Amino acid sequence: VYSGPSKRTTRLLSRVLSLDDFEIEAKKLLPRPIFGYISGAAENNVSRKRNRESFDDYEFLPRVLNDVSKRTTTTELFGKTYAAPFGIAPIGLSALYAYRGDIVLAKGAAQENVPMILSGTSLIRLEEVIKANPDAWFQAYLPGDDANIDALLQRVEKANFKTLVLTVDTCVPANRENNVRAGFSTPLKPSFRLLLDGILHPRWSIGTFLKTITFHGIPHFENSYAHRGAPILSPTVERDFSFRDHLNWSHVERIRKLWKGTFVIKGILNPEDARKAVEIGADGIIVSNHGGRQLDGAIAPLHALPAIVQACPNIPVMMDSGIRRGGDVIKALALGASFVFAGRPFAYASSVAGEAGVQHALGILKSEMMRNMALVGVNDVRDININEQVIPYSKR
Ligand code: FNR
Repeated sequence: VYSGPSKRTTRLLSRVLSLDDFEIEAKKLLPRPIFGYISGAAENNVSRKRNRESFDDYEFLPRVLNDVSKRTTTTELFGKTYAAPFGIAPIGLSALYAYRGDIVLAKGAAQENVPMILSGTSLIRLEEVIKANPDAWFQAYLPGDDANIDALLQRVEKANFKTLVLTVDTCVPANRENNVRAGFSTPLKPSFRLLLDGILHPRWSIGTFLKTITFHGIPHFENSYAHRGAPILSPTVERDFSFRDHLNWSHVERIRKLWKGTFVIKGILNPEDARKAVEIGADGIIVSNHGGRQLDGAIAPLHALPAIVQACPNIPVMMDSGIRRGGDVIKALALGASFVFAGRPFAYASSVAGEAGVQHALGILKSEMMRNMALVGVNDVRDININEQVIPYSKR
């Protein structure tokens, strides 16, 4: 029986005042290769940096004396009412940095009534995760190969997932030099360095890694389209990239026909692609540059938003990459996003304090939103508009 967070966790969380504080705590806790996998991006990390900076390109122009006593962050999406207009982006390998990571994320999101997207490169079977959170969405990486597409879609549908997110910005593995430098790879290669780092980080090596191996065995890619899954130590895990570069719009059209539930495409930055997504019948899109982890130099999603929102006015346009504050959420919504997601903060939060950490992170974002809504002068985030309470920053 879960009786809430331990005294130690409560003490630790009292030090975590912002989402960035979770990164500081995670850095202390995790071996360098594992922390590097979460924090890292591609090549020169330009997009990761610009994702953050893009929010400073907008300023609030607050209204005062508006009676802001009836504030709410409640938001409808795909026929469901969520507690806030944000959720947990799909983050792979969660069970490697948090004990039962995907379950922890799923339960934390359910507690706070926000959506959680289960990663296709997760290490816990999707059938188990949907039990922990019946609203969880499933993110798939799919190859340009019908047999593998069909097998995975059937499995996801049978498990009762209602929302499928297809990630399309990952047709080839990214150039993540930081992983090589930090000693991280998939498949994970046990090395002297990893062993030494593990000894130096006992809270992770005992509390997460050994506990996982003891109770659940070596983690497997349980939800990859290759279907059977392979252990993270197996050289065959790379096969999941095979045929991913064959995937094209005609496969997506077919996926749309086969998938009866809600269908979301993640990783769109170009308005032409957004239009195509609408044309083939996507129910929503997530504007994303994968947190700067794929194409370095790709436009910051916040900057890509206005043109995409204009290109598809009739479906929810969501976004991720760089959201760290309630104020960031407000700016994204002002620019036309219906909903936003964050990735790294929840990876850190789950590793630092499990389910309590995830709830704490979601709580911080929500309270920051509530406070800033009051200070901007609105009761409902939908009342915030670009060129009214949010304006582009110009160096005057
Ligand atoms: C990711 N992301 C990701 N996206 C996806 O579609 N499938 C996946 O398996 C993963 N895995 C993954 C692992 C880790 C450790 C991170 C940090 C990110 C990308 C993720 O869904 C999201 O697009 C970004 O994380 C958003 O940027 P921020 O919030 O991390 O800045």
